[in-house]
Amino acid sequence: MKALVLSGGKGTRLRPLTFTLAKQLIPVANRPILGYVLDQVRDAGIAEVGVIIAQETGNYVKDYVKDGSDWRMRVDYILQEPLGLAHAVKQARPFLGGSPFVMCLGDNLQGRGISNLVRRFEEEKLDCLILLKEVPDPQRFGIAVLDSGGRVTKLVEKPKEPPTNLAVVGTYLFSPKVHLAVDRIKPSWRNELEITDAIQEMINMGFRVKAEVLDSWWLDTGKKDDILTANQIVLDEYVRRDVRGNVEESTVEGRVIVSEGASVKGSRVRGPCVIGRAASIEGSFIGPYTSIGDSAQVVNSAIENSILMAGASVKDVERMEDSLLGRSARVSKNGRSHSVKANVGDFSEIEV
Ligand code: G1P
Repeated sequence: MKALVLSGGKGTRLRPLTFTLAKQLIPVANRPILGYVLDQVRDAGIAEVGVIIAQETGNYVKDYVKDGSDWRMRVDYILQEPLGLAHAVKQARPFLGGSPFVMCLGDNLQGRGISNLVRRFEEEKLDCLILLKEVPDPQRFGIAVLDSGGRVTKLVEKPKEPPTNLAVVGTYLFSPKVHLAVDRIKPSWRNELEITDAIQEMINMGFRVKAEVLDSWWLDTGKKDDILTANQIVLDEYVRRDVRGNVEESTVEGRVIVSEGASVKGSRVRGPCVIGRAASIEGSFIGPYTSIGDSAQVVNSAIENSILMAGASVKDVERMEDSLLGRSARVSKNGRSHSVKANVGDFSEIEV
């Protein structure tokens, strides 16, 4: 079993962050979503991984994943133009060879992991196993129809009139027969080779295609969820109390990570939250669902439900909430009330 992890695309919806970062690398709880996806691949015992990258952002992905040894896996990079998920499978054919594989979208994470899906796929000798999740807005996803035995009878990509509300989640398992189907499909109206069309073709060809409805959470930072929602879920799921940095004259309550080299002085920190390496918190309140990046600084401020990426700083801000600050972004109070002074990049948003 190999893995194909998709980390290309443009990430237009997540501008301005994606001008200087791949969308799969935006940190939630101080770690790129892609990191959690690779953890799940490794935990399923898969050591040969193809990572699909785009021209514009591929180098950021390579800088993060490197040769894959941090995850004890061997990584091949495959360059792809954004021409659809089935096109990515086609592009990866030399890497995949005749092997079955799990395909994961690098901006999607689901709470179930991959191991037991791989087991079922192998035991039942399936050609395709997909995961589904009920969503309130099925028009935005690939949608599946099942028969009473859990067999997929039909798949449609972003239907105007959805036959069900079961969305296709970004984790797919395939036998090499998928390549036969990919060769038979045509580009869709958005000029992409759609993976849903390829799976529909597998059904038409009589291959064994099954689905499971996910009973756990699903994050889709490329589309379904905003980054702050993803941050909340990941903080809830992954943070255990671990205080390593220096804490002085402060209270640290609940599930909080204070990383090595971080310093918390005269402050109150209430979990779940994470404070990155060499970050400094002084005279401040850090409230639930906040991720403070490495080397970020918070002075004389209160912050809740927010993400400060590495090197960001907040000074003398009475209250900041539901905010996302990019790397080395700075927010401070200028002393005069009712006055805003801003130096803000393209596509940024400020609410005062
Ligand atoms: C893709 C798939 C779609 C799936 C979705 C999950 O959509 O084509 O079937 O439901 O991922 O995020 P896209 O991101 O290409 O719009």
